[in-house]
Amino acid sequence: MLKTQDRLRRLRRTSAIRDLVQETRLNAADFIYPIFVGEGLTERQPINALPGQVRLPLSALAREADELGELGVRAVLVFGVPDHKEEAAGHAADSHGITQEAVRALKAANPDLVVITDVCVCGHTTHGHCGIVRDGEVDNDATLPLLSSIAVSHAEAGADIVAPSAMMDRQVAAIRARLDDGGYTGTSILAYSAKYASAFYGPFREALDSKPQFGDRRAYQMPSPNAREALREAEADIAQEADIVMVKPGLPYLDIVHRIRERFDVPLAVYQVSGEYAMIKAAAQAGWLDEKTAALESLIAFRRAGADLVITYFAKEAAAWLR
Ligand code: PBG
Repeated sequence: MLKTQDRLRRLRRTSAIRDLVQETRLNAADFIYPIFVGEGLTERQPINALPGQVRLPLSALAREADELGELGVRAVLVFGVPDHKEEAAGHAADSHGITQEAVRALKAANPDLVVITDVCVCGHTTHGHCGIVRDGEVDNDATLPLLSSIAVSHAEAGADIVAPSAMMDRQVAAIRARLDDGGYTGTSILAYSAKYASAFYGPFREALDSKPQFGDRRAYQMPSPNAREALREAEADIAQEADIVMVKPGLPYLDIVHRIRERFDVPLAVYQVSGEYAMIKAAAQAGWLDEKTAALESLIAFRRAGADLVITYFAKEAAAWLR
């Protein structure tokens, strides 16, 4: 009979031994960096609730692409911030809208950069909801053609991957069909599959000025107490041909990351959202925790739980720390 090995500290003795037996690793190639691009801006505009993050003018994107390249961060998630809002957000699909121009600028500067776009309308609508509002409710099926047109306009501008985040039922199928019809069979879909109605999106809504003007998003985003429902969301998106599925937010939903990883074999992304980032930044600024170790500990947790891709506002800093 084998004796139980209870001297686990042996493999913790030196840093080199610890590295040898390390089970998961962080790599800048797994990071996706979210960027905000503001229409009509002439200079970088700091985002109060997201220390260290800014709204970028189009003119700054070439330099941003270079900087990411030097750091080894190879993917971005683009959020365009339009200069005006419309009730039905028709301008979100404008081929020369801010997101579309941002995609062109990034691709022109660095064709190898993986450009992912957020496909939603909350930053474009006057009411701040993620779809078309009828009689005080977000109308699911009326929103699908709009999301599809937005996705096609992003693909046309050169996006490699479109990421629908509106949480409308059947949005992946609708977008896939329109992309294929338009000849964009090579454009991938990263589905925000398990996107929870979360308080942790607070700082992002300042960045995008996308706070709902009435009600909240609970009629379309997921309820935080539910885990099995997240598996159904992921299953539905995979059936609709999502290439990658996502869980969002990150740390409060690590169990969901793990369960989706165990159940499905598609690549899995996790989004460490604005509030998660802001909490670490704020505590570090107050001197209450060490920013670098806290941030890296949260990022490795995503990998350990089973995520392949990590969307994080720490992408650039973490890439530099990992050198
Ligand atoms: C929009 C969207 C949201 C985020 C990304 N896309 C949030 C929301 O529902 O308001 C959140 C990202 C973050 O908090 O960092 N549909």
